[in-house]
Amino acid sequence: MFGSKTVLVVGTGTIGEPLIGLLCHFKAQLGIDEVLFHKRTPLLNDRAKVLNLLRRGARLVADAESVAGFEQLGLRVDAETEAALGAARVVVDCTPSGREMKERWYERHEDDTDLFIAQGNQFGFGRPYARGINDEVLVAGREKYLQVVSCNTHNLSVLIKILGLGDRGPENLVEGRFVCMRRANDISEDGKFVPSPQVGAHKVERFGTHHARDAWHLFRTKGEQYDLNLFSSALRLNSQLMHVIHYHLKVREPVTRDELVARLAADDRIAVTYKTTANSIFSFGRDHGFCGRILNHSVIPVETLHVDAAGTGITGCSFTPQDGNSLLSSVAATVWGLYPETYDKIVQCLRPYFFREV
Ligand SMILES: NC(=O)c1ccc[n+]([C@@H]2O[C@H](COP(=O)([O-])OP(=O)(O)OC[C@H]3O[C@@H](n4cnc5c(N)ncnc54)[C@H](OP(=O)(O)O)[C@@H]3O)[C@@H](O)[C@H]2O)c1
Repeated sequence: MFGSKTVLVVGTGTIGEPLIGLLCHFKAQLGIDEVLFHKRTPLLNDRAKVLNLLRRGARLVADAESVAGFEQLGLRVDAETEAALGAARVVVDCTPSGREMKERWYERHEDDTDLFIAQGNQFGFGRPYARGINDEVLVAGREKYLQVVSCNTHNLSVLIKILGLGDRGPENLVEGRFVCMRRANDISEDGKFVPSPQVGAHKVERFGTHHARDAWHLFRTKGEQYDLNLFSSALRLNSQLMHVIHYHLKVREPVTRDELVARLAADDRIAVTYKTTANSIFSFGRDHGFCGRILNHSVIPVETLHVDAAGTGITGCSFTPQDGNSLLSSVAATVWGLYPETYDKIVQCLRPYFFREV
């Protein structure tokens, strides 16, 4: 019924909706036969979204008990969940319930499906992954479950990798300290806005918040020598646009600011910028990104970069491009599931959306 390179995206929210659109748009270049998407609830106010995803070539999947509800809305369901899970080579869970979905559905389909991928807050779902950070740990035939880390964890990790480790490895980083200033909610969301800055608790004993913990686990996949000294704090701002991270890295090998600027300029995981506001960077993404998304891991305002007199204390700020980095890693992981040897070459079709400068 469906081709052998069929991908199922579960969830049509902030991450799922653009991911389905992206996979449909680049279906031929990515070597995908069919893009299926599962929606849990038939909702009149989501009908336009579903119709547009169908128009773009995706095919709707629903649980058996919801099919009639979708049909009452005039939406044709192409497959029930059980059949779609049986047909998909790769399943990308974009719900906040990936671990529950694993127990309820995915574990029963391990023989049919090569790879299950979940998203940022599903710690423990599978091996943590961020494109360009730990690709070398992926082993074809071994990975069944991957967790694409959150957007801020992508940002922390690329700061650690490029500014903290450089080409010297984990022993170069003495410590990494981060303050994640998060947007209140996504522009697509009606709830969860905060009227003024709201500070977060340090709930994770060793790491402060989950951001540093998740970055630690991501690097740890690379080997026991990666026991990084990381700590993060988080607060929410009354903005809907972009997260901002303040970082301080202490390194062993002295470095100059010019060397770091050169490293940033040479790396396509980073976009440098001479803008200083979230709205101007967000606006660049809206005009030049894919459906508004900048796909780099981090956008770094060069003028905030400071190196102390000893050359070992590095301080600055960076912007997290909403969910663009998680989308890129989700696509890379999906294509890895289909073409483990050549996936990185294949995802270069998205290169126009990772920028050198914003
Ligand atoms: N938001 C971001 O910027 C962002 C960035 C990076 C990573 N992430 C991660 O992406 C994941 C999803 O977050 P999101 O913000 O995209 O969520 P969201 O906007 O709230 O969307 C949730 C979607 O999942 C579906 N869903 C929820 N529970 C389900 C269940 N038990 N079974 C089937 N479908 C279910 C909902 O379906 P119905 O509406 O049809 O019921 C909805 O389509 C999280 O792990 C999050 O950490 C989010």
